[in-house]
Amino acid sequence: MRTLLIDGAAQRTEQTDVTGPSMAASMAAYIPSPGALPTAVQRDLRSDHAGETGAVFIYRGILSCTRDSALREFATEHLATEQRHLAFFEQWLPASLKSRLIPLWKLAGWLLGALSLLGGRRGVFLTIEAVETFVVAHYREQLPQLRTLGQDGLELKLRSFMDDEAAHRDDAASRSVAGPAGPLGRVWCALVEFGSAAGVAVARRL
Ligand SMILES: [Fe+2]
Ligand SMILES: [Fe+2]
Repeated sequence: MRTLLIDGAAQRTEQTDVTGPSMAASMAAYIPSPGALPTAVQRDLRSDHAGETGAVFIYRGILSCTRDSALREFATEHLATEQRHLAFFEQWLPASLKSRLIPLWKLAGWLLGALSLLGGRRGVFLTIEAVETFVVAHYREQLPQLRTLGQDGLELKLRSFMDDEAAHRDDAASRSVAGPAGPLGRVWCALVEFGSAAGVAVARRL
């Protein structure tokens, strides 16, 4: 049986039996082959992989276009987490369950990161807060179904990613010290949310 244990870095393990006192912990960490999951869950996972790809490229877009050391430190720190998230889906999902539009998600992410810089630091922090707020909600939506299916290991994994995204959201919000967004900022954030939702809807299918 192919299992993926979630403690530590994503790691494939061939395992035929689970015995001994750590059995309960191992079962909690059990993540099945993606092919064994219902189609609806596979669609969510395709959108998760696409989203993490986009997230990596948002931060790469920022890093490609700014010399601001505070923004570079911010983006570098967040990028490392997104790369870890992406590595999990990259290793675990077969090509058949990945989006066929990966180049589009990379481009969209990169452009979003780069364009956010037009609003300076505040533009970046507002954009990241909007994106990460969306991503937290997107992961949260997936958890009840996994619980119903008894997929505790996968639920734990996605919950840990959701917590990382919430930390990113809060980090961006705490750095955005100039108070609530003005009208332009609110329109921009609404566009970001709409674009993210449209991206998820497409990536669920393609
Ligand atoms: Fe992420
Ligand atoms: Fe994030």
